[in-house]
Amino acid sequence: MSEIKCVGILTSGGDSPGMNAAIRAVTRAAIYNGFEVMGIMRGYKGLVTDEIIPFKTQNVSNIIQQGGTILKTARCKEFMTPEGRQQAYDNMQKHGIDALVVIGGDGSLTGARIFASEFNIPIVGLPGTIDNDLYGTDTTIGYDTALNTIMDAVDKIRDTATSHERLFFIEVMGRNAGFLALNGAIATGAEAAIIPEIATEVDQLAELIENGFRKSKNSSIVLVAESELTGGAMGLSERVKKEFPEYDVRVTILGHIQRGGSPSAADRILASRMGEASINALLEGQRNIMVGIQNDELVYVPFTKAIRNDKPINRDLLNTIKILSI
Ligand code: F6P
Repeated sequence: MSEIKCVGILTSGGDSPGMNAAIRAVTRAAIYNGFEVMGIMRGYKGLVTDEIIPFKTQNVSNIIQQGGTILKTARCKEFMTPEGRQQAYDNMQKHGIDALVVIGGDGSLTGARIFASEFNIPIVGLPGTIDNDLYGTDTTIGYDTALNTIMDAVDKIRDTATSHERLFFIEVMGRNAGFLALNGAIATGAEAAIIPEIATEVDQLAELIENGFRKSKNSSIVLVAESELTGGAMGLSERVKKEFPEYDVRVTILGHIQRGGSPSAADRILASRMGEASINALLEGQRNIMVGIQNDELVYVPFTKAIRNDKPINRDLLNTIKILSI
């Protein structure tokens, strides 16, 4: 029998499309199983500053299709201090919250791991980030929608790139991971993806220029993952201007557009399944784990593993891009 009576739910860090679908699923699955639910506003900040409200099933009506997060989100400095976490714990006690579901990326799950170990609180994490950089899960909530946003944007840029016969460097998000750039490049038929995972092994730009970009075309699209390691789209374009002035180069940084929008069907389904699974995990006595998905099976991944920052990319995809862009 679970000792848990009341579950608090929060979204933290960078928002991602599908967070609302996850909030809905956690809330409804919790209520279905007899738990009370508390919505915590602005991530860990709301725990520290006591912005906590009771959630009924109506609080999550009509949100599955909405981007962003109705709980708001923040990156909270106070929670990084022991005093801040003590305050957060005191507020949990005050509201009778005895377990948490945290939806967020690696920073948010790192905070969850520390908080759980200091105060012996059952916490279940859901991978909510467009970056897809959490270990132990094939995909994260928001990643598919962000990929689709990238695809739509790059398709448009391709029209003007073709008309003007230009080389475009398009920078996508991902913090220090190349998943969006890599799969975005495949989805858009780009000539290359420049990613941080192999940045120290090869000079990706030099290799690209050596190959002569796409020989059969006069315009080129290259997706660049944001990161100091890749140099970013601006850095690469500066290099090309200096080293290869014959190219007419332009840069587009897609930026926060990638974090918005109505979640794709895949993200809504993923968030709904994972949200329900988070409550099942608490009922089974699981704690300090992230719900992941591997080969379409929901799995529990210990926080310590999920937040490792070396989730491997599929290197075969780089070859696929190369072969398909001849
Ligand atoms: O981790 C999610 C993410 O969107 C990254 O891809 C990006 O580097 C970062 O957040 C941007 O953060 P902010 O919202 O603070 O600009």
